Amino acid sequence: MSAGGKGGGKSGGSGGSGGGGLGGRSQGGRERVRTARGRSASSVRWLDRQLNDPYVKRAQADGYRARAAYKLLELDQRFGLLRGVNRVVDLGAAPGGWSQVVLRARPQCSVVGIDLLPVEPLAGLTFLQLDFLREDAAEQLELALGGAADLVLSDMAANTVGHHATDHLRTMALVEAAAGFAATILAPGGAFVAKVLAGGAESHLVAELKRQFASVKHAKPPASRKESSETYVIAQGFKG
Ligand SMILES: C[S@@+](CC[C@H](N)C(=O)[O-])C[C@H]1O[C@@H](n2cnc3c(N)ncnc32)[C@H](O)[C@@H]1O
Repeated sequence: MSAGGKGGGKSGGSGGSGGGGLGGRSQGGRERVRTARGRSASSVRWLDRQLNDPYVKRAQADGYRARAAYKLLELDQRFGLLRGVNRVVDLGAAPGGWSQVVLRARPQCSVVGIDLLPVEPLAGLTFLQLDFLREDAAEQLELALGGAADLVLSDMAANTVGHHATDHLRTMALVEAAAGFAATILAPGGAFVAKVLAGGAESHLVAELKRQFASVKHAKPPASRKESSETYVIAQGFKG
């Protein structure tokens, strides 16, 4: 994932950014980003944040591919999402942090992931490098999973263009497609977790989820950056 990447890419990778001569140690122990000709201000900000983010450091120490892993760990702690699951779909799986969390908790579980970006092989994960919005994506996911899912996860985020309303609508379109897919593949009692952006246009989605699930809640796990408008919708007890 590139330092200058936007949107979904930004919150993905944890590895690699601490080395390679990107940072220098300041007096206070905080890593400083060495400025380099040609590096944009936003790229320097991204690097600075990566170098000093405790979750990035924890992810490196714990062998997770993304700091995002802690968001799912924290959501699982609160909602018991991974208890007893045998089939899980991971939408927007790259670089693989959430799939790692699922497979560490449930090593026998079948996990099928999809992403526009590649994912390094991970034992237990069947991965499709494909646009989830493509017409045949749902069918391919279903074929790969081979049965009803207990849990559908979506950490998908559209690439941001910096215009809040546009970014919000694009990510909400992904969430709505994910919710529609979840309703076709979940087993009764199953759960759906999706990243949403705070910004208003989600009341229709929440109303629909409330019709389909016994419980619908919002949560912002501590690992989700405070300055980010992302939050997660947790729908449990699929009515089938
Ligand atoms: C925040 S990252 C996911 C991080 C992941 N949960 C982890 O723990 O490694 C969001 C991902 O959504 C993916 N994404 C965005 N739009 C997509 C689409 N239309 N189809 C598939 N993946 C998509 C991006 O490529 C990006 O890798």
